[in-house]
Amino acid sequence: MVARLIDGKALAEELRTGFKVRVAALSAQGHRPGLAVILAGEDPASQVYVRNKVNACEAAGIFSLKISYPADVSQKTLLAKIAELNADPAIHGILVQLPLPRHIDETTVLETIAPEKDVDGFHAVNIGTLAQGNPRFIPCTPYGVMKMLEANGIDPTGKEAVVIGRSNIAGKPMALLLLNASATVTVCHSKTRDLAAHARRADILVAAIGKPRFVTADMVKPGATVIDIGINRLPEKEGGKLCGDVDFEAVRGIASLITPVPGGVGPMTITMLLANTIEAAERRNWA
Ligand code: GUN
Repeated sequence: MVARLIDGKALAEELRTGFKVRVAALSAQGHRPGLAVILAGEDPASQVYVRNKVNACEAAGIFSLKISYPADVSQKTLLAKIAELNADPAIHGILVQLPLPRHIDETTVLETIAPEKDVDGFHAVNIGTLAQGNPRFIPCTPYGVMKMLEANGIDPTGKEAVVIGRSNIAGKPMALLLLNASATVTVCHSKTRDLAAHARRADILVAAIGKPRFVTADMVKPGATVIDIGINRLPEKEGGKLCGDVDFEAVRGIASLITPVPGGVGPMTITMLLANTIEAAERRNWA
């Protein structure tokens, strides 16, 4: 069997086409959606991600404000800027690109964003409502994965779902979403014993660990759906290409559905950021 590809790029384009009407309607009412993106430091990957987010906003008709700080920016300066953006009616969504420089306390920064403008869905209130099964803003990457499953006819109900990775950005909210969708969920991580045995039970296997080609063919059940959240840059001596957490060439011979890297989850992450920003603008008067 050779797995069918889940085309994140095509689905992202389809969804973005649908956003145009909503953005036009909001703009006509004087409420053009606005997203502020804060970047602290010069991490090259973060710079690329932020540029892509800003460009995607522009293409969708969403106002974007990019605010860059040097790596030695003080936490006080960041918190003051977030407070200013919280009060700005032209800004409906606020995103602080992670990781932050080491001297900054990430939790304090994320908790300063008003929950109703937290389009990344990382605030404790938004993670809490997600855990309760009544989410307001869902973290963009796992939200995109759920859309990809739905678009490809994969209903998680009753399925064995195994998530490898427990980050606050991807693995943990992914597990919560799959649980809310009635899957039986196992979360594996660096301390898991016999991770391969867990992975082999998965009908839906999600890799979110940030290790190139970590998931090998022997870890995949024949016919499984394999979702690769990883975006890793291979060393120059190995070609310097982008590569996921899954050994794609080997695993595609075993799985029934698989996401490629690039062109899989990546385009959906930004698409769901746009979706959350539009929704924030639509709900701007929410209680
Ligand atoms: N760094 C890596 N992924 C993300 C993301 O989805 N949002 C933010 N803010 N930072 C990230």
